[in-house]
Amino acid sequence: MKQQDVILCNDLTTELAAALQGSSYDKIFLLTDAHTHQLCRPLLKDVSVIVSAVEIIIKADDINKTLDSLADVWMSLSRMGATRHSLLINLGGGMVTDLGGFAAATFKRGIDYINIPTTLLAMVDAAVGGKTGINFNGLKNEVGAFAPAMSVWLETEFLRTLDRENFFSGYAEMLKHGLISNKEHWVELLQFDTHQIDYARLKTMVGTSVSVKEQIVIEDPKEHGIRKALNLGHTVGHAFESLALAQNRPVLHGYAVAWGMVCELYLSHIKSGFPKDKMRQTIQFIKDNYGVFTFDCKNYEQLYELMLHDKKNCAETINFTLLKDIGEICIDQTADKETIFEMLDFYRECMGC
Ligand code: GLY
Repeated sequence: MKQQDVILCNDLTTELAAALQGSSYDKIFLLTDAHTHQLCRPLLKDVSVIVSAVEIIIKADDINKTLDSLADVWMSLSRMGATRHSLLINLGGGMVTDLGGFAAATFKRGIDYINIPTTLLAMVDAAVGGKTGINFNGLKNEVGAFAPAMSVWLETEFLRTLDRENFFSGYAEMLKHGLISNKEHWVELLQFDTHQIDYARLKTMVGTSVSVKEQIVIEDPKEHGIRKALNLGHTVGHAFESLALAQNRPVLHGYAVAWGMVCELYLSHIKSGFPKDKMRQTIQFIKDNYGVFTFDCKNYEQLYELMLHDKKNCAETINFTLLKDIGEICIDQTADKETIFEMLDFYRECMGC
């Protein structure tokens, strides 16, 4: 799998214009959703290649990461004369970069695409690393392909307009990168003033965070081994996300991951000896900034089933990524039902629900 360039921009407008100037693409397409069409595209009004690109606008939000939206993109590409030598630029959050990446990976068996993520979650996770896809048959990211973008352009100026919930949703993935990388980055993340955001500092931290993911993806692009480190917090997190959806009280992905990390740090502590003080400090940060996802013991069976049916797992076992310490990763760990129920007890007790 080819590597992708991830560029932390100082000025997206001039840098992107320079990069695309004189490119040999026969046509350039711009994929936006209803939000990024309105809020982000105008910020690129000085990039002539963007202004003259054919824009394809899809409906916003994860519920629209569907086969129908994908077919709309294929149809627009086809009708507007896209060829194998065309370029698709995805401007948006993870929904746009996932779906647009998959559209590009499949249209005429694959055309070039670049990602310009506009949310923190997409910058540090979704838009980087080549995972593309759509939700299908009620399952998240059920159909997709590993297909890296040519380049990913990180313009942190977009983050100034992000609401707090979406800021924290992305920040959870940064916290995960801190936990799986090194103590300095983890401390920096816990100490960052999330109430009074210093955007210059955030930009540097986004650079550090994304390079944690890049290094892992370079080593294991198709998740046969160490890329599973990026699943920390996600086994339980996905179960929380699905339970919340089933109960008609959807939560943002990063929030579910943050609460999932509370559980998986507990498992890390009891199974791999993750230090108690670091577990407590991380949990306190999550409690302070993410609040609590509430459930009771009547939901344990359902949560267990949801974990069992997560696509990372084989029929009978639930797979976790755990930590021995900050940056000391143990992939392919399992836990039995009793331990998982104990973990849920721990979560409810320490989060106070
Ligand atoms: N979001 C986890 C990964 O890209 O592998």
